[in-house]
Amino acid sequence: MRVIADIERMQAQARLWARRGLRVGFVPTMGCLHAGHLSLVDCARQEVGGRGIVVVSVYVNPTQFGPKEDFDAYPRDLKRDLALCRKAGVDVVFTPRDAAMYPGKAQGRFSTYVVEERLSQVMEGRARPTHFRGVTTVVAKLFNIVQPEAAFFGAKDWQQAAILKRMVADLNLPVNLVVVPTVREPDGLALSSRNQYLTPEQRRQATALWRSLQHARQRVRRASMGAAQLRAEIEHLLRQQPEARLDYVEFFHGDTLVPVRTVRRGTHMALAVFVGPTRLIDNGRL
Ligand code: PAF
Repeated sequence: MRVIADIERMQAQARLWARRGLRVGFVPTMGCLHAGHLSLVDCARQEVGGRGIVVVSVYVNPTQFGPKEDFDAYPRDLKRDLALCRKAGVDVVFTPRDAAMYPGKAQGRFSTYVVEERLSQVMEGRARPTHFRGVTTVVAKLFNIVQPEAAFFGAKDWQQAAILKRMVADLNLPVNLVVVPTVREPDGLALSSRNQYLTPEQRRQATALWRSLQHARQRVRRASMGAAQLRAEIEHLLRQQPEARLDYVEFFHGDTLVPVRTVRRGTHMALAVFVGPTRLIDNGRL
């Protein structure tokens, strides 16, 4: 396994792979890898085959964090990430530096961003106004550097995946975007690098996100119901957890993210909940 930090070297390597006709699968991450990321790596390997190349990027992207968010505190452990990647059979880990990704940003010289204007207005976009601009910008940059044939993203960040699919289609980027199912703990909690912020008691209460999803699934299994009524029931369920505070729960069409008034089997649900100071998200098809 090789570790490449330099953007020009990574691009030169990508050109070499293209000349040799090698297939490249790409897993962009912010590090702090867990079994969810490793399932993306497995999918990438399956897609490109034993002779293909699997690239993982480890980069905590500053432009997708708001001014009051956890950029400085975001967990970083490159040594552990590299060991996990090596064990998972990754070929190259790309670890660019801020100064190379956003040269002159502090002096206002970096000024080109990729902005998706519709899907990023709702849910996470409403709660975190500049977040998706940072995500689309960094992913477009990473695609230009790594030049993958396919890129793999977790379904836990459903809205992110929808926005990136839109970006790939709208900008004619030659990348096949693959969305991989969420990996969960045995009690249903979706794996997330932010789970490690939780105290044992908060960790116990954090299962309320999964229980909310299951409650909604149960409620619409046989008959449709109003979104307002189901939202009220989920608010009630979350109020039972003293450390949990609902940020939003939305019911919408899974591809278009358009909200629905009537929730039925197949409707998508997403929610964001503060558990103590930690903001967790989850989603699923009902
Ligand atoms: O999902 C993430 O970890 C990040 O948003 C991504 C796609 C790696 C961009 O920084």
